[in-house]
Amino acid sequence: MSLLTLLRSRFDSVLRSMADDTGPLLEMIRPAQDARFGDYQANFAMSLSKQLGKPPREIAAEVVSRLQLDDLCEAPEVAGPGFINLKFRSEFIAARITEIAGDDRLGVTPVDNPRHVIVDFSSPNVAKPMHVGHLRSTVIGDAICRTLRFAGHRVTSDNHIGDWGTQFGMIIYGYRHFRNDAAYAAEPVAELSRLYKLVNQLSDYHTAVQKLPVLKTVLEKAEKGVQEFQATLDAGDKKAQKQLAQLQRQAESARTELRACESTVANLQSDASLLAIADAHPNIARLAREETAKLHAGDADNQKLWDEFLPACLQALQRIYDRLGIQFDLSLGESFYNPMLPEVVESLKSKQLSTVSDGAVCVFIEGNRAPFIVQKSDGAYTYATTDLATIRYRHETLHADELLYVVDNRQSEHFQLLFQTAQHWGFEKLRMRHISFGTVMGADGKPYKTRSGDNVGLESLIDEAISRARRIIDENDNRRESPALSEEQRARVAEIVGIGGIKYADLHHNRDSDYTFDWDKMLATTGDTAAYMQYAYARICGIFRKLQIERTAVRSGCAVILSCSEERALALQLLQFDDAIRSVLSEYRPHLLTAWLFETADKFSKFYDRCSVQDAETEGLQKSRLVLCDLMARSLHTGLSLLGIETAEVM
Ligand code: ARG
Repeated sequence: MSLLTLLRSRFDSVLRSMADDTGPLLEMIRPAQDARFGDYQANFAMSLSKQLGKPPREIAAEVVSRLQLDDLCEAPEVAGPGFINLKFRSEFIAARITEIAGDDRLGVTPVDNPRHVIVDFSSPNVAKPMHVGHLRSTVIGDAICRTLRFAGHRVTSDNHIGDWGTQFGMIIYGYRHFRNDAAYAAEPVAELSRLYKLVNQLSDYHTAVQKLPVLKTVLEKAEKGVQEFQATLDAGDKKAQKQLAQLQRQAESARTELRACESTVANLQSDASLLAIADAHPNIARLAREETAKLHAGDADNQKLWDEFLPACLQALQRIYDRLGIQFDLSLGESFYNPMLPEVVESLKSKQLSTVSDGAVCVFIEGNRAPFIVQKSDGAYTYATTDLATIRYRHETLHADELLYVVDNRQSEHFQLLFQTAQHWGFEKLRMRHISFGTVMGADGKPYKTRSGDNVGLESLIDEAISRARRIIDENDNRRESPALSEEQRARVAEIVGIGGIKYADLHHNRDSDYTFDWDKMLATTGDTAAYMQYAYARICGIFRKLQIERTAVRSGCAVILSCSEERALALQLLQFDDAIRSVLSEYRPHLLTAWLFETADKFSKFYDRCSVQDAETEGLQKSRLVLCDLMARSLHTGLSLLGIETAEVM
């Protein structure tokens, strides 16, 4: 049961006679920032005062006099300019705790209107190794799926694998010309990804060589422009100064681009054997593009290679998902939609949504700078066309009510154009949302890379997390008088702490922000980390073991006594789980769940310091404290599991 919903519904009965739209007013009932003001505070009197032309305190007093809250709260207090302070009755809190002590859902009521939500996440491009950037989508997407399901929605997780993109033309070209058979036989995916990188590098080189003279001219012109302008400049003319600064900036950016190009060229030329290969393949970019086009047009040889490459690539991905405990209901890659693409473009044309511009079929939507290109001038369909086909399939065939795309924020414009186009195309009832996120940064403040500048592979990242966790667990356990863990247990705990650490570190940041990857913070056993929560869980299990009481035994028939403020604070916090889940789902922000977990763990540790379980004054009080302990453990377990993080009873 949501405490907020309960309070708001009581206020709603009163406010309905005072305002037409009570929604925004009810939003202003929130948990109090400071415990001195009670548990919750209602701040709507000030805004209602403007609507009704009465002083806010008078309004607050009137609302309070008509409120029916006796069964839930102490008498509400009107404070300051018209705040209404609310404090739950301790008997009410105790009774609710007793009720949810036996509830598997920990008091979380399923939503009234379940939706079918399709969550598109992870969605890596195959044949390029998955890296730390894909981790964010995978971890955030999985947490959102689990939370939606728990709340009672129908969820379909779909891995929209990039298995049809231009990388295949590059790989096919690379495979035909540069393959190392022994390497391919031993580790096909590693070899394919080497080929991809090589072809990419060679085409970048030729592009740079071609661009060099152009960039040089651009820079010369820009520099000349600056000089000429400077020669005639009137020092007192502010406007001219501004123009000069702008010209200088243009020259600077031309210089930067030229330098980047020069270094691409110089880097490759410094390697004689690579240069020989580059010289032998001057048209590599165009030829690779043609291989992609042939594949898309149904060329049998290229299709055969694709059929050969794909299973190995998918297997490599699956290995990572298995280790991370991630499951998909569907893995419909881009290739699945290929047969539908011509029809999508036809349909857009027939609805007169598209125009032809420079030979390309585009959808222009008012207010947007960029067109949405659905077919290029050479006839090729695009990422956009596939995404439109996907929307139609998900809505018409899979009957989704809502689509979520967990993809990094560099694709914001794509999704904005996609959703607008889809709405014009006839999907105005379908909810669509881009769940965007920031970049994982290294300690140097740049996107996280290995020392050699390569992307950090996910597989080695997972290995490292587990081996670092293992060291911490060994140290902890060896420090005990008699170590508690067997070899097998240590290995298992290292796995859940390592993987849980990676996931939690990602999820506890607001997804919009970039965050810095930091092993030590991630695996610390104190602070806002998975390990801290996991240890807290194991510690509570230990309390029961020591007293030789089954945890299930305290789930019914034990009265809850709130004898001090720490007990009360913890109990109230545990009752707010439902609200935490609701807040996560209102904007799909898993960090609101980690925030609740952290706050709960903090209240628990204050409770545990103050209130002895073992030496409780009476048997009744001990039972009551055990109820809180068990509920705490289950809240940790369930909360973490919604984030895809496991727990262990002994650590
Ligand atoms: N494969 C894409 C990438 O790695 C992400 C796909 C996201 N999903 C989508 N339906 N566009 O950039």
